[in-house]
Amino acid sequence: MALTVNGAPVPVPTDPRVSLLDLLRERLDLTGTKKGCNQGACGACTVLLDGERVLSCLTLAVQADGRSVTTIEGLVEGAMHPLQQAFIEHDGFQCGYCTPGQICSAVAMVEEWRRGSPSNVTQDLADSAIELTHDELRERMSGNLCRCGAHNGIVDAIVATYVTEGAR
Ligand code: FES
Ligand code: FES
Repeated sequence: MALTVNGAPVPVPTDPRVSLLDLLRERLDLTGTKKGCNQGACGACTVLLDGERVLSCLTLAVQADGRSVTTIEGLVEGAMHPLQQAFIEHDGFQCGYCTPGQICSAVAMVEEWRRGSPSNVTQDLADSAIELTHDELRERMSGNLCRCGAHNGIVDAIVATYVTEGAR
């Protein structure tokens, strides 16, 4: 049994109780993924599982068997991901603890939006071209908390990367 983490094969731990978060941080030294609440409330541990955002604290490593995990480290391809650069330019963090989860979550959130998936604040569920308004964006990112209060900068960074710039 094995999974792929940032393109590299990794054996699934023999202990089925190991969370994906602990596998990443404690056994693979991928400490970019953060442990905040460890109970699904803060979003700091968000990673991509086959491109979808998941809370790695609530995901068992064994559930990722045969699947592909991407962490914040895996988003870097030679240079910083455009959204990482935008977080710097738009002051999207203070302490930075929530930032890897925010960025992984936003990368997947944008794909959900592009597929036309509605959110809790989408007015017209039949709308195939939902506008990523301020309310839509904040609702779709509401699972990722920032205790420093950098939410305005986070929203600005996402808008600059995916709405203003358009196609990244
Ligand atoms: S550490 Fe996973 S949601 Fe908070
Ligand atoms: S930047 Fe500190 S918790 Fe978000």
